[in-house]
Amino acid sequence: MLALKLPVIIYAVLLSCIIESGWCLDCSVAPKICNQNSDSDCAKCIQSHPCCTWCLDADFKNKRCNTKENLINMNCTETNIYSANNSQINDDKIINKTFQNPIEERNQPAIQIRPQKMNIQLRLNDPVTFKLEYKAALDYPLDLYYLMDLTYSMRGDVAAMINLGSEMADLLKTLTKNYKIGFGYFMDKVVMPFSDNNKNLIENPCRISGYDCEKGYDFIHALNFTTRISEFTDKLKSSKITANLDDLEGGLDAIMQIIVCKDHMEWRTFSRKIIVIATDGFLHFAGDGILAGITKKNPGICLIGEDGSYTGALEYDYPSLEEIYRKLVEYKVNLLFAAKRAVFSYYEQLERTIPEVSSVGKLEEKSQNIFKLIEKSYMEVISNARFEAKTTDGIKVTFHSTCNKGELKETNSCDNIEIGKTYGFDVTLELVELPENTTGRIVIEEMNLAESIQINVAYIGLECECDNEKQHNIECVHGKFECGKCICDQNWAGYLCDKECSKNPCRFTNGTYISSTCFSRGDCDYTKCECICDSEYMGSYCEYNQCKRNQRTRRICSDRGTCDKGICLCHPMYGAEDCSCYKGTEKCTVPGKALCNGVGNCTCGECQCPKEYTGERCEYCPSCEKVCEAYDDCIISVAQNKTTGACTTNETQYITAKVEKVEAKCRARFFNEAGSQCEIEYTYSVIGNTIKLEYLDPNCPPPFYASTPGISAFVAVLLVGISVLVIWKLNATYKDKMAYKRFQEQLNKNKFANEENPIYRSPIRKYFNPNRSDMFDTDKMD
Ligand SMILES: *[C@@H]1O[C@H](CO)[C@@H](O)[C@H](O)[C@H]1NC(C)=O
Ligand SMILES: *[C@@H]1O[C@H](CO)[C@@H](O)[C@H](O)[C@H]1NC(C)=O
Ligand SMILES: *[C@@H]1O[C@H](CO)[C@@H](O)[C@H](O)[C@H]1NC(C)=O
Ligand SMILES: *[C@@H]1O[C@H](CO)[C@@H](O)[C@H](O)[C@H]1NC(C)=O
Ligand SMILES: *[C@@H]1O[C@H](CO)[C@@H](O)[C@H](O)[C@H]1NC(C)=O
Ligand SMILES: *[C@@H]1O[C@H](CO)[C@@H](O)[C@H](O)[C@H]1NC(C)=O
Ligand SMILES: *[C@@H]1O[C@H](CO)[C@@H](O)[C@H](O)[C@H]1NC(C)=O
Ligand SMILES: *[C@@H]1O[C@H](CO)[C@@H](O)[C@H](O)[C@H]1NC(C)=O
Ligand SMILES: *[C@@H]1O[C@H](CO)[C@@H](O)[C@H](O)[C@H]1NC(C)=O
Repeated sequence: MLALKLPVIIYAVLLSCIIESGWCLDCSVAPKICNQNSDSDCAKCIQSHPCCTWCLDADFKNKRCNTKENLINMNCTETNIYSANNSQINDDKIINKTFQNPIEERNQPAIQIRPQKMNIQLRLNDPVTFKLEYKAALDYPLDLYYLMDLTYSMRGDVAAMINLGSEMADLLKTLTKNYKIGFGYFMDKVVMPFSDNNKNLIENPCRISGYDCEKGYDFIHALNFTTRISEFTDKLKSSKITANLDDLEGGLDAIMQIIVCKDHMEWRTFSRKIIVIATDGFLHFAGDGILAGITKKNPGICLIGEDGSYTGALEYDYPSLEEIYRKLVEYKVNLLFAAKRAVFSYYEQLERTIPEVSSVGKLEEKSQNIFKLIEKSYMEVISNARFEAKTTDGIKVTFHSTCNKGELKETNSCDNIEIGKTYGFDVTLELVELPENTTGRIVIEEMNLAESIQINVAYIGLECECDNEKQHNIECVHGKFECGKCICDQNWAGYLCDKECSKNPCRFTNGTYISSTCFSRGDCDYTKCECICDSEYMGSYCEYNQCKRNQRTRRICSDRGTCDKGICLCHPMYGAEDCSCYKGTEKCTVPGKALCNGVGNCTCGECQCPKEYTGERCEYCPSCEKVCEAYDDCIISVAQNKTTGACTTNETQYITAKVEKVEAKCRARFFNEAGSQCEIEYTYSVIGNTIKLEYLDPNCPPPFYASTPGISAFVAVLLVGISVLVIWKLNATYKDKMAYKRFQEQLNKNKFANEENPIYRSPIRKYFNPNRSDMFDTDKMD
């Protein structure tokens, strides 16, 4: 159980770091960052990391920019440490009204998002997090615009809708008590080649079909938003079918007008907005207008005449899908394409390009399922909450939510929102770039609602507000006292700004010769009259190359020496150009032997061993007679109860221990007083500068005395051995011979194949290009 919980706890802690950012502010990396701005100025210091602080003590001699902790350790008085405040929310300025359903009678809009307004202070790279809560209100207003394609092929649907119209109220009532409906219809621009301009057909484009049609139109807005469904059915009844030539229609013109004529059509500000387009035709897009000589870009403004018709039809091109998308997002309107079967897949594709703001449904014959589609689309719209932040540059906004299920993850939207339930988002704001201004603004909006969170941001920690009037014991000669130190006027330098710079600071001169500024290898800091050299140069004029860096660590002089005029002056025990070479030999010493057991070289404090030797001191040689000869003397003298003298040098101490069992890799042999040859098995391990030897009791078999039966046995064994060898040798020789013979035979067989048939001519011909010496060899080509 615990094993299961542990990762969850760690995860929770990590997340709380993201959320309660202040907590987890990692100051461990700060000293390094502070140090890069260590002595320049206070503002740069506190900007560099939220943990960097600045010492204001006038007589402080160390680098002034560091973490508070380090400055105190360096004897900067705590009261004299300047630190900027961390990012924070100004709690007293929050407007955080409770959730509320809309109250129509009192004209009170719903409150679905909290808080509504807040002021925060943001410091560079110091994130701050607050909780955004969302609760979908009951009976939130719905504005539904019913846009109908009234071309000839839709005539059945119009008739059907007139019957269905009265039921519209029942449907909308189930969705929300607070609905309004608007209505309009469209065909296409009345101009060749989209519509027939034939005089006889202009008044009644359906004459050929023997049907009574209305004169063509692009888009007619018929009904402002109203709660009275009877007006909707009346308008439906009085609207008339018309006809055009091509099967693409001017739907986008209509949609654009419906969106941008917000005031004319009386869309409500606080409402969910859906446009339903019932159609069986395709759409004309931007650019199609050219076919009729209409080239002006769609302006995206309201152009509805007194009679409700679109007056820009013959002047402006169709809008592009992108323009429509932008308007939909801006005005927070959703589109529902209720498309007939024949064009359904076309609208499906269209929907896929703008999925956030549109949905699509298959409209059955005579619009029988139109209510179902509307209901589904409405549910889709309300079941999603998606937040987006509009901010001034440099502020990063991230959202985390559990969406009331499962784990917290980074997301700005939740699906399956249920009305009346509260959903929380942790919103983290972080200033990631040095801002231009001192204030900024963030607006967090729900994509479909006219509600938002307004956040005023004040940037802090950009300047140091030091009290420079305070008594201090240094007097800046040519400069002013600021945050504990003298800031010198141009061409003055030094702790008290009393050192005048030469006429050409940062330029080397020896009378006849004046160098370029810092030898063009750095920049001149005119307030200090000093070159700030590029990283690979040094010297007061950047005249020297930087000192050698350690290849592995990239530290100058391996951090084991000082750099002088481009040359490392190494600490006593170190050598080499980059001071990487340690001169001590303690890791190479073997008692009683030369360094590295006398077989290897002690290079930079470590043994370089010949091939067959391994071990830190070249002490191990599995193929040698004496496997670990470096330690044999020590182990033998210890095992024989003699002194441990062979086990000590002035640098290395050997520890010996007799053990019961050891995985021996070394073996030492010696003769004891009784004349027996003894063998000690032991092993060694290196621990720092000491070497630990563990050995087993010596094994000393009694000496071997030859006896008569012993000899005959010995001779018998010898004879058997020799005869086995002879037989093996004969056998091997025979086998070799046979193999060689077979090889010869093979070779002979192959010989013919190696020669060309004399009447064979290769179909490949070579021609040499005299201009190219590296001709392809065609024979080699496959
Ligand atoms: C801080 O002051 C103490 C006592 O005066 C002194 O021993 C110590 O060296 C000082 N530390 C530094 C970094 O100056
Ligand atoms: C930090 O915050 C405190 C309290 O909000 C305020 O009194 C103080 O002036 C702030 N310090 C700086 C440097 O802004
Ligand atoms: C707003 O108020 C609610 C209820 O008191 C509280 O839970 C929430 O944290 C507040 N939001 C903020 C950002 O302070
Ligand atoms: C819709 O309202 C606008 C003003 O808001 C008005 O000018 C227009 O005549 C109305 N249209 C219809 C069809 O009622
Ligand atoms: C800074 O303020 C100016 C004037 O108020 C404004 O024009 C500019 O866009 C702002 N800059 C940023 C990055 O917000
Ligand atoms: C001055 O310095 C330049 C460049 O280092 C050198 O070539 C020249 O010989 C020097 N002249 C004198 C007089 O030292
Ligand atoms: C040790 O140094 C000598 C002389 O520089 C060299 O000949 C020899 O090969 C080196 N031995 C090893 C094991 O590197
Ligand atoms: C070494 O001395 C110990 C007692 O000090 C003794 O028990 C042991 O037998 C001796 N071993 C040898 C090899 O003399
Ligand atoms: C170890 O002792 C020997 C003999 O006294 C001496 O020559 C040698 O320098 C010493 N080694 C070190 C590293 O001190």
